Amino acid sequence: MRHYTRGVNDAPLTPLLEVRGLAKRYRTDRPPVFSGIDLTLAAGDYIAIMGESGVGKSTLLNLIAGLDRPDAGTIRLGGAEITALDDDDATLLRRARMGFVFQAFHVLPYLTVTQNVAVPLGLLGVGRRESDARVGEVLRSVGLADAGPRSPRELSGGELQRVAIARALVHRPQLVLADEPTGNLDPRTALQVLEVLRGEIRASGGAGILITHSPTAARTADRSLRLTAQGLERYEPTP
Ligand SMILES: Nc1ncnc2c1ncn2[C@@H]1O[C@H](COP(=O)(O)OP(=O)(O)O)[C@@H](O)[C@H]1O
Ligand SMILES: [Mg+2]
Repeated sequence: MRHYTRGVNDAPLTPLLEVRGLAKRYRTDRPPVFSGIDLTLAAGDYIAIMGESGVGKSTLLNLIAGLDRPDAGTIRLGGAEITALDDDDATLLRRARMGFVFQAFHVLPYLTVTQNVAVPLGLLGVGRRESDARVGEVLRSVGLADAGPRSPRELSGGELQRVAIARALVHRPQLVLADEPTGNLDPRTALQVLEVLRGEIRASGGAGILITHSPTAARTADRSLRLTAQGLERYEPTP
């Protein structure tokens, strides 16, 4: 979805995710990883965040996910202030409203593909019949219609990451967070997986953040930002 009414400051009219003045430091004897992070996303926005290794990209995603706490700043997702929630409420919000894709897939080898993709629905208490229907639908849309009964052990890296994308989107999250999702894939497979990810985020109507250090990957998103210790800045990825 394009936001034609957006002003020059790029602030969406109805923000889904609002990050304000975010700062994180792990050790008091070291400078903060970053500070002054501002980010606003509307539903339908799909952005890439680039930056050198160690600059804090995963740290930023963990904070947005409510898995870790900032030293300063606020994060709001659709009206809920993540930074004000206790751990239990953050977990519930994460389960209901977010989906994750990681570099290392994290597909569980002892479950079938269908069982893997159904995990988020199970955590939300969705019944078997509805879950089966939805899992079938999302597996079809990532091009794995026949893979449901298979073991992840039989799948290629590209197939595993499409299983992970199906799992990240099966519960129609408002926000999808992908941390270097193609870091373990060859360039051709990586682009195929990124197309699937973009297509699924588009179809879901939610927003997405793609963390990557690949300019090629970043260009599959609508816009790119670069993370530095001082904040997020606009960035035009060139190959
Ligand atoms: N749990 C942690 N405890 C202490 N330092 C950490 C922790 N996680 C990350 N760091 C440090 O914070 C910085 C940013 O790490 P990270 O967010 O993983 O960067 P990126 O994902 O951009 O490579 C690095 O210097 C890293 O060593
Ligand atoms: Mg990282």
